[in-house]
Amino acid sequence: MARMGDDIGAAADCLSRGMLVGIPTETVYGLAANALDERAVAGIFEAKQRPHFDPLIVHIADATEADRYAASFPVAARQLAAAFWPGPLTLILPKKPLIPDLVTSGHPTVGLRVPAHPLTRDLLRSLSFPLAAPSANPFGYVSPTTAQHVNDQLGDAVCYILDGGPCDVGVESTIVGFENDRPVIYRLGGIPVEQIAAVVGEVKEQIRAGSNPVAPGQTDAHYSPRCRLLLDQWPAELMADGKTALIRFSEAWPGFPEKDQLILSENADLTEAAARLFGYLRLLDEQGYLVAYAESVPDYGIGRAINDRLKRASALFH
Ligand code: TXA
Ligand code: MG
Repeated sequence: MARMGDDIGAAADCLSRGMLVGIPTETVYGLAANALDERAVAGIFEAKQRPHFDPLIVHIADATEADRYAASFPVAARQLAAAFWPGPLTLILPKKPLIPDLVTSGHPTVGLRVPAHPLTRDLLRSLSFPLAAPSANPFGYVSPTTAQHVNDQLGDAVCYILDGGPCDVGVESTIVGFENDRPVIYRLGGIPVEQIAAVVGEVKEQIRAGSNPVAPGQTDAHYSPRCRLLLDQWPAELMADGKTALIRFSEAWPGFPEKDQLILSENADLTEAAARLFGYLRLLDEQGYLVAYAESVPDYGIGRAINDRLKRASALFH
């Protein structure tokens, strides 16, 4: 059990002493440490049981700070930062030597993001260093969208959890890198591809199966609950045995107990669906369901990120 609350001073004190803190962002909760302190960063990998080949995102208070850590900024990166920061967008840029290799897993680039959550922005402004923070879940499990989720799994590893309420967006940031200064989308996320294209024109997509660029596919199964999850594989006969759940987009499946159906958005609103998704995946485990059948949501806007996460959550079970 960790101390939990909205005390920015307590969080800052822990971080300044090289300890880990759970932080709220608009996407998911992060497991934060001083990005410039290699020992503190090592603690993140250990707490998450995260392989060292998987680089961390560095969170900064303001776009103007990006030049301290990025060696260069393609024009398209500046345009995207101006359009979407603070917000659910991570830019992969050439790093300055100040950023430890441990943070970037030896890559010459660093992932930078200005999160939009007011508590975390105040925290960042109060610190003299940026925060390295992956999602605050054990490696491979579903990302946390409440402070309680963080406490449930990593409570013993953190010095403090800054409780900023449930996350508004609910899926992780969209990750954009650059090849010959042209933007490439590496991870679908909170900023829809259509919105990115509206700023920089048509963009290439190179969605990475796993986190490890040199061993693609190795970490395919990400965001997975323990409950067996099947996507768009509707069985001929559904067992109403109390151990089987359905994850539906907007309408319950007729003839199946409503208590065992999780509706992502009764209003068929993709934004609401994204905000609820990870909480529902955790609920499957909390309620002891053994199997869940999920349906894809409409595949546009943030719906693409939802479908991507559903695919990964079900990847172990094909
Ligand atoms: O919304 C988010 O992005 C959340 C919140 C906490 O900010 N963070 C998050 O971090 O999702 P994480 O560690 O779960 O995912 C970060 C991913 C890595 O797995 C990696 O694929 C990519 O970001 N990444 C980070 N730095 C990179 C780099 N230098 N080059 C390529 N990919 C990088
Ligand atoms: Mg993660």
